[in-house]
Amino acid sequence: MNVAQPRLQVQSLTRSFGGRAVVNAVSLEIAAGQVTCLLGPSGCGKSTTLRMIAGVEMPDSGRIVIDGQEVCGPARILPPEARGVGLMFQDFALFPHLTVAENVGFGLRGDRTERGRRIGELLEKVNLSGYGEKHPHQLSGGEQQRVALARALAPKPRVMLMDEPFSGLDNRLRDGIRDTTLELLKAEGTAVLLVTHEPDEAMRMADEIALMRGGHIVQSGSPYNIYTRPADRAAAAFFSDVNVIRGVSRGALTQTPFGDFLTPGHADGADVEIVIRPQHLKIDFDRNGRGPNPTPLDGTPARGTVLRSRFLGRESLVEFAMDFEGARLSAAVPGVFLPRPGTVLWLMIRRDRCFVFPAQRH
Ligand SMILES: Nc1ncnc2c1ncn2[C@@H]1O[C@H](COP(=O)(O)OP(=O)(O)OP(=O)(O)O)[C@@H](O)[C@H]1O
Ligand SMILES: [Mg+2]
Repeated sequence: MNVAQPRLQVQSLTRSFGGRAVVNAVSLEIAAGQVTCLLGPSGCGKSTTLRMIAGVEMPDSGRIVIDGQEVCGPARILPPEARGVGLMFQDFALFPHLTVAENVGFGLRGDRTERGRRIGELLEKVNLSGYGEKHPHQLSGGEQQRVALARALAPKPRVMLMDEPFSGLDNRLRDGIRDTTLELLKAEGTAVLLVTHEPDEAMRMADEIALMRGGHIVQSGSPYNIYTRPADRAAAAFFSDVNVIRGVSRGALTQTPFGDFLTPGHADGADVEIVIRPQHLKIDFDRNGRGPNPTPLDGTPARGTVLRSRFLGRESLVEFAMDFEGARLSAAVPGVFLPRPGTVLWLMIRRDRCFVFPAQRH
């Protein structure tokens, strides 16, 4: 096999319902052993994309290629079972009349000993050793979900399509199961396309994130790149709260209460938005009216009054009413920092962490 060849290629997949394109020219490539997370808000077309790759939904146009072979396109359309694809959907269903072991072994070929070994190995991997003889109705929802996972993994599919597969599990179980599942899939060289609407899950699991909105993939890249170089304000806001400071670019410079920002590439007179995550605001004290003590990197500090402080566990979130333009900003501080409402503090902006976008029209 050509090593450089992606395991899964999706080219310009499009599907409309009632004249509305819910999946619009979606393209992506996944290599063997790689995990791509399709991330986006509810209704953006994630499940429809997955269902077309699985073969249970027909695209209006586009091509799907697995290991260099067209499985759906102008040349031919293979049925789901001939695509070498494993499925793990939100609404998985186990066979109620079969035991756990029989469910897991359902799609397996080979002799009894070999199948038994694979079933045992998988039940162990999903923490269900000893459950083989039980029936689905004797299991909790989370246990049933893990059986479905083992069943999907059993035939070692070339491509694994997963639609929110961990959503029914409690937090403690979830982290362990999703890490072992991914290790297993990676070790077997499976290409994984995993749908989620939770950014934390995507950041944790993905080699690559494809951010989807309104039927389009608006940005794709490593979790680091997507988080630190969002394509637009909505992409930035998908991963955390964001603060927005508005201004007008003149001569590639925008004046704000936090000093001047370089805004190259924006036309003279263009409205711009400077977007920054709460983690990248710096707080300084008022020192009895003497004011803050900024370093040259901090730019100009702006004064604000604490509206609310909340402790979130890993960090504290402080909301401010700023002196300028009635603006509201929030700053996240690691650990415990809970200034009382009414406290006057100063905020500074980490310039290297700002994103500048053209202002959104309202
Ligand atoms: N069979 C269908 N007929 C008509 N409209 C459909 C059909 N299937 C999906 N849609 C519409 O297409 C859009 C995308 O649906 P899809 O299930 O792909 O969203 P999603 O991104 O998976 O959302 P969620 O995160 O809520 O699961 C929705 O607006 C949905 O109502
Ligand atoms: Mg869905």
